[in-house]
Amino acid sequence: MNLKLRINLIITVLLFLTLIIGGGMFTIQNARGNVQAEIASTAILALHMLDSEILAYSLNSGQVSPAYVGSGSTFQLNKLTDVRHLKIDFYDAHGRLRDTNQSRPSDDAPPKWFVSMMDTVTDEMPITKRMVYRGGRIVGELVITPDPSYEIAEVWEEMQGMLIFVGIFFIVVNILIYYFVGRALRPIDNILEALTDLESGKLEARLPKFTLPELSRISDKFNVMANTLEESIADNRHLTQQMIQVQEEERKNLARELHDEIGQHLTAIHVDASAILKAKTIEASKESASAIDTVARQMMDIVHNILQRLRPSGLDELGLEAALQELINGWKQRHKDITVKYSIEGLFSDYDEAVLITLYRLVQECLTNISRHARAENIQIILSQKNQLIFLSVSDDGQGFDTSIRTTGFGLPGMRERVEGLAGVLEIVAFPNKGTQVNIELPCITRGEK
Ligand SMILES: Nc1ncnc2c1ncn2[C@@H]1O[C@H](COP(=O)(O)OP(=O)(O)OP(=O)(O)O)[C@@H](O)[C@H]1O
Ligand SMILES: [Mg+2]
Repeated sequence: MNLKLRINLIITVLLFLTLIIGGGMFTIQNARGNVQAEIASTAILALHMLDSEILAYSLNSGQVSPAYVGSGSTFQLNKLTDVRHLKIDFYDAHGRLRDTNQSRPSDDAPPKWFVSMMDTVTDEMPITKRMVYRGGRIVGELVITPDPSYEIAEVWEEMQGMLIFVGIFFIVVNILIYYFVGRALRPIDNILEALTDLESGKLEARLPKFTLPELSRISDKFNVMANTLEESIADNRHLTQQMIQVQEEERKNLARELHDEIGQHLTAIHVDASAILKAKTIEASKESASAIDTVARQMMDIVHNILQRLRPSGLDELGLEAALQELINGWKQRHKDITVKYSIEGLFSDYDEAVLITLYRLVQECLTNISRHARAENIQIILSQKNQLIFLSVSDDGQGFDTSIRTTGFGLPGMRERVEGLAGVLEIVAFPNKGTQVNIELPCITRGEK
């Protein structure tokens, strides 16, 4: 069952219980009081009258008041059918019913359950009996029994009217509740629609402002989330494009170097080798061999440089500490005017290759950025580990920058990608003219753990 129907059902049940149990009980209780009061007052009046009739009957030697003259019965009780709340019976000395005011039963009798609810009103009202004497002899007995059936029928009639009114009210209220609950829950459909759009890749899906404050908060949060998602997907696309571009650039450089440097050198070796083969003197051969040796050495340097770019030298054989030391030393050689403080605490030999290469590349990019953008005089590099976390901090006292301005650079987003790819955290603290600090926190992933 959906939320709208469920809310409607709960409200309907509560309303029904309130109206029927609360209203019905109150009405019945009220009616019971009224019936009781009416019967009591009628009983007092009727008793008073009957007492004087009995007295007159006794004194007049069997004559009743002129009001009853002409009737066949002693007290002409059948004429008292208007006295509706009392059943008055006259039994003769032998206990036979001689006269009664009881009238015909009503056609529109209330249902039994209703009567049984109301019937108890007469429980507290006793049956009154009056012995009737004539000439010192018992003639019979008048028995006056409270009879709420008329009043109950009347209350039932009233209640039927009320039930019809309650029924109509109930239906109208229910329709209104259904309509308003539907209206109030309409934003949920919008939210579902927007989520489905997001799921199917429509990242521009946004929610409108809702009037309900709770739903409005949801819409605000959703929109912020969708913005972030859209931006990060755009960043990712940009990054991928950049990576492809960088890769292509790198391949082009390698191809050029292979062609220009290695190709030329190989040609030179080939020429020198041919010269040795054709040499007539040992001196001439030696000269060509020496040329080959020089070219081979130059080629070794070129290959070493290419490999260095492709993969940090020493990281595999010597470990991260030595590779970083070599990187920093090389950087210091090129930036003699900048003071570098470097400290490393802990052993980094057991870590996964991805962690080691990431740390190396992070330091490398930070150093490149410092030389390109910072104009710093002092830099500090701290690498440490504690509680299963690796901390790297690279700070400079250069000109800093405004981190809220997005740049087209590939370095910082690439660093973030690398760090987040290893479930780490990267923080850049930088302000214009106040230096830059790059803080990185990485989980300690040991070899084979990933
Ligand atoms: N240490 C720093 N000091 C001052 N500015 C910095 C520093 N590091 C980064 N920046 C600023 O942040 C920007 C973004 O850096 P990022 O490394 O992403 O790109 P880039 O260095 O310009 O280009 P590349 O894609 O080649 O790395 C830089 O252009 C520079 O303005
Ligand atoms: Mg950079």
